[in-house]
Amino acid sequence: MDTALIYGAYGYTGSLIVDEAVARGGSPVVAGRDREQVRDVATEHDLDHRVFSLERGRAIERALDGIDVVCNCAGPFVNTAVPLVDACLETGTDYLDITGEFQVFNRLADEDERATASGVTVLPGVGFDVVPTDCLAVMLAERVPGATELSLAIASTSSVSRGTAKTMVESLGSGGVVRRRGRLVQVPTAYDVREIDFGERVGVTPAVTIPWGDIVTAAHSTGIETISVYAGVSKRAIRALKAGGSLESIAGTGPVKSTLERLIDATVDGPDGRELTQDRAVVWGEVTDGETRLRGRLETPNPYALTVETATNAIERTLVGEIPAGFQTPATAFGPEFILECSAVERWIDEPMAVPS
Ligand SMILES: NC(=O)c1ccc[n+]([C@@H]2O[C@H](COP(=O)([O-])OP(=O)(O)OC[C@H]3O[C@@H](n4cnc5c(N)ncnc54)[C@H](OP(=O)(O)O)[C@@H]3O)[C@@H](O)[C@H]2O)c1
Repeated sequence: MDTALIYGAYGYTGSLIVDEAVARGGSPVVAGRDREQVRDVATEHDLDHRVFSLERGRAIERALDGIDVVCNCAGPFVNTAVPLVDACLETGTDYLDITGEFQVFNRLADEDERATASGVTVLPGVGFDVVPTDCLAVMLAERVPGATELSLAIASTSSVSRGTAKTMVESLGSGGVVRRRGRLVQVPTAYDVREIDFGERVGVTPAVTIPWGDIVTAAHSTGIETISVYAGVSKRAIRALKAGGSLESIAGTGPVKSTLERLIDATVDGPDGRELTQDRAVVWGEVTDGETRLRGRLETPNPYALTVETATNAIERTLVGEIPAGFQTPATAFGPEFILECSAVERWIDEPMAVPS
């Protein structure tokens, strides 16, 4: 029987994914770098475990012996994805992760040729970043063949986990990034602001550009080469973000980063059970070919709850071998309807409209 390994299994999100996999009758091998915490998760669920850090390539390869699929839940992924992917390519193991970091998608896309030649799937982003946005982008692009521009947006009120807060700190100081005619272009933080209609639950809200993974993944899955991703925020937050350019450059320096990380360790827990089961998030998208414009949106469970479901679904589908080799996005691997297999996801696609001249 094929075997999955969940790395980062004692983190907030990793442990929820282990719980879900076990609740569905699975027996993943649990792994991470801290012996005691890995053993605790293994004992709780009566699972096999492996303890290894990501510093030494050969040790990682040995730890993947007999493993068919790795799901990496250890972030910030700028520190963990490459050594695990290297070992996966050496050992013929499929690789999944729950990153949202555009730099990681960009780096792993470079492994496409090597992965295809080795028959290995490299599929980062099987969580809230980027499953719903990637699937919505493809649903819209399929309805406007020849679309040249894609905008995506998210609205969520969920609190964040420790790992997400640290991942955000990791990217402090790097400003914003959008995709323009095939190139990733550095822009100031929140450089573009637009009003977006997120539907009944959220309403019309200002949204600002954020450096989200879709600026890499949606280009791969739709072929569209001009992409911006927005997050719905309050007007007050926009003023603070725009005024904070200089603050961000200070916060992006080494000593300030490590102080912030210590503060996060002491204060951030992640969404509680109520938030996980009751929160909703909205993902919005728009494509245009210059003449026609098409919009749509998805309403999903809380981003962490959705991540647990999409990641577990992705592990199960990869284990049964339903997935092409090479660098993949969720929609290229499983099709755009993948998101609709999750519980409590609703979709609206508008009628196409003429772009006002
Ligand atoms: N795609 C999505 O929508 C989505 C959803 C949820 C989370 N995430 C991302 O997933 C990551 C984890 O989030 P979380 O909430 O689970 O955070 P967490 O509770 O802080 O857990 C992070 C886990 O990663 C491990 N880890 C971190 N750096 C490592 C390294 N260099 N080598 C080995 N292990 C390392 C940690 O082990 P130690 O304790 O030993 O450091 C811990 O097990 C974050 O980057 C977050 O942004 C993405």
